[in-house]
Parts: sequence; structure tokens; C-alpha cells
Amino acid sequence: MRIGIIGGGNVGQALAAALRRAGHAPILLLRSPGTEDAPLAPLADAAAYILAVPFDAAAEALAAVAPGGIPVLDATNPLAMGPDGLGLSLGFDDSGAERITRAFPRLRLTKVFNTTGANVMADAARFAPRPVMFAAGDDADAKAIALRLAADIGFEAVDAGPLRAARLLEAHAMLWIDLSMRRGLGRDFAFALRRAVP
Ligand SMILES: NC(=O)c1ccc[n+]([C@@H]2O[C@H](COP(=O)([O-])OP(=O)(O)OC[C@H]3O[C@@H](n4cnc5c(N)ncnc54)[C@H](OP(=O)(O)O)[C@@H]3O)[C@@H](O)[C@H]2O)c1
Repeated sequence: MRIGIIGGGNVGQALAAALRRAGHAPILLLRSPGTEDAPLAPLADAAAYILAVPFDAAAEALAAVAPGGIPVLDATNPLAMGPDGLGLSLGFDDSGAERITRAFPRLRLTKVFNTTGANVMADAARFAPRPVMFAAGDDADAKAIALRLAADIGFEAVDAGPLRAARLLEAHAMLWIDLSMRRGLGRDFAFALRRAVP
């Protein structure tokens, strides 16, 4: 699949490498593109876009790319520094994904690729058992693409329900960040689903 990745930082580059390895054709959409990138503008043959910019830049970046009816996979987390350090800037009764969708009502948005570190997404095969990746969204086609791409790059892909479940996924991301930054786990860990032995 031709995937336009909006943002070429930690997440954009990690997902580009993993998707390329899985046989897809990702391209980074950047404000200052190099020769192998594309400008921050609509990508003619995109099957989906991945939104991988800081949450506060999401509206500006989406306005430039104008995805129209093409699914957008939202990897952002609404993070901000607070009195206790880095935390979610909204949550419980709202989510970044829902806020973006309110600003762009026709956006076919699925929350995915936000709940683990970019280093995990770069090469999920380094982890055993397979790490889990959740997707939440109201558009069935967009969510199907999200789940397929997550599985293709080595995750157990799990449908986490409607877009409003992004509230849970963004909090889940914050748990990963908190464990990583404050509880001594570093970045080389991932969550996995384990099931009872029958
Ligand atoms: N890092 C992680 O492990 C991780 C994991 C899961 C989710 N996330 C989330 O994923 C998102 C990206 O994180 P990251 O670590 O990849 O960030 P990053 O390394 O800081 O990269 C951000 C990218 O966004 C671009 N950008 C910034 N403002 C923009 C704008 N107004 N229009 C277009 N592009 C813009 C930057 O381009 P320029 O070079 O032009 O500034 C850069 O390529 C964040 O929302 C983060 O919360 C991060």
C-alpha cells in the first residue's frame, strides 16, 4: 500500500522503515522534503495517511495534506508538561483523536500506532511474544487498514472499538511513557496480550 506519512521524526521514520520492510510503499510528507520524501501536500496515490506530528501541529499538517476521503491513521498523543512532568493534556471525557475529528468532521480517522514507543514500532519482531497494537475508530475501512498495517509490521492487531475508545488508547500510551521515563523500564519493552491456556 502507498502510505503517506505526515511527519518524519521518531515515529514517521520508524513506521516508514517497518512498512517498507513489510512490502509497503511509505513516503514521508515533510515541510522540508529531501530527495526521497514528498512535500507536505496531498499524495496522489495514497491508500492511507499516518499522522505522526506533535498533537498541537495536527490541524496545521492535516490542513496542508487535505486527506479528503483517504483514511488517516492517528499516531499522535496530546502531551503537555504539567506540575508532575509530562502528561496528557486532555482525557477521560475527550481524546486527541476526537478533537481532531471535530475540527475535520469528514476525516476518516482511526487511532493507532500511539500506544508504544517508536523504537518498538521500528522493529516489533525484536519482542516475544508479539507486542499488541490497538486501533480505535468509527470508519470500518480505515480501521481495517490500520489493523492490517499493524499486523504486517509484527504486532498482534486488536480492534479496540469506536473512536471514543481513543480516550483509553491515549491513556494507555501515557502508561507506556510513564513506565519508560519514570519507572526505570527504558524504551525496550512492549505490552502483549497473554491468554489463558485452554
Ligand atoms: N516518539 C515516540 O516514541 C512516540 C510513540 C507513539 C506516538 N508518538 C506520537 O507521535 C507523534 C510524533 O512523535 P515523534 O516522536 O515522531 O515527534 P518528532 O520526532 O518531534 O517529529 C515530529 C515531526 O513532525 C513534523 N512537524 C512538526 N510540526 C509540523 C507541522 N506544523 N506541519 C507538518 N509537520 C510538522 C516535524 O517536522 P520538522 O522537522 O519540519 O519540524 C517532524 O518531522 C507525537 O504526537 C507523539 O506524541 C510518539
